[in-house]
Amino acid sequence: MRQIEQRAAQAYREQFHEEPALIASAPGRVNLIGEHTDYNGGFVLPCAVSRRVAVAIGPGGPKLYSADFQEERPLTTEKKGSWADYPSGVVRAIQERGCDVRGFQVAFAGDVPLGSGLSSSAAIEAATALALDAFFHLDISRKDLAVLCQRAENVFVGVNSGIMDQYASLLCKEGMALLIDCRSLEAEQVPLDLASAGLRLLVCDTQVSRKLGNTGYNARRQTSEQAASTLGVKKLRDARVPDLDRLSGEEFQRAWHVVTENDRVLEAVEALRRHDFTRFGQLMYASHRSMRDDYEISTPELDTFVELAAKSGVPGARLTGAGFGGCAIALIEQADVEGLKSTVLQIFAERGFKEPVFYVFQPAEGAEIIQLTR
Ligand code: GLA
Repeated sequence: MRQIEQRAAQAYREQFHEEPALIASAPGRVNLIGEHTDYNGGFVLPCAVSRRVAVAIGPGGPKLYSADFQEERPLTTEKKGSWADYPSGVVRAIQERGCDVRGFQVAFAGDVPLGSGLSSSAAIEAATALALDAFFHLDISRKDLAVLCQRAENVFVGVNSGIMDQYASLLCKEGMALLIDCRSLEAEQVPLDLASAGLRLLVCDTQVSRKLGNTGYNARRQTSEQAASTLGVKKLRDARVPDLDRLSGEEFQRAWHVVTENDRVLEAVEALRRHDFTRFGQLMYASHRSMRDDYEISTPELDTFVELAAKSGVPGARLTGAGFGGCAIALIEQADVEGLKSTVLQIFAERGFKEPVFYVFQPAEGAEIIQLTR
């Protein structure tokens, strides 16, 4: 059992004075390439990271306990603005599917940084969904659980996010990236053996917190939909570069990013299949430029990290996730990690930015269930 899963089990025992029936845990993610393409019906390429949310579940309740917030909250039927919205939203989405999930209590523990773009919300949703599925023997597929989690996020929490994060948390595999076709919802494992290439994923959390609901995320989504409707296509996935001449202003810029980003994802997958990390990295930089100049979701901190990575000769770097703050990633030789970190720390300080936090990741395992014998 992972340490975080032990913490959830321990929290359950302390709070409810019983043994839990089982434990589920689900990871956060980084997206390697393919940003703001999911809700446009396009392609994304995330991988799971080794930070997770674990949940211990057993009969009783309904009661929700968080070891991190050290508080118990009831299951709610409407958004209250706390961590309990996520499990409550998942319960509601499962009930709306016609499943009876009454009579359970849960304790959560997690180490996915909150609000920084590593998908802590998808991790708590995915862990809850998988735990409920196993505990009540619902037999819902992982893909369907991911769709239920997205529904919880969209309808209950009120963030109009795409499917990427929940899919990544539930379906990723260790040592693999996950190519998701966000229209058909087909997902394909793509080997990402960074270790044998001496590479790592360095994540720089700029500590500029982004709350999705308060940022331009929904606005970007709306402009994308407008651009698709101007072009007479269902989603921007269906547009090609020459079509874009018919757009202007913001609609053109946003659509340009989405259309070229979809192409970059597919090319990046081809590059991975050839073990061509040089090309893969170039596509990451191109993706960042597109997000900075056309989708306009970068920040000075994220740009600085990417600029310093490029100057240091690192194969690839880009912002990851929704943007407007949060994290950037670099695909980097293990031996260069410390050097880039110290350069970034120094230049961030000189520019008056907050001190960033770094994580080094390898593609990790997706959500898992641990059955306990009571
Ligand atoms: C957030 C959303 C995802 C996706 C990314 C941007 O992480 O939750 O659905 O849209 O932003 O690629």
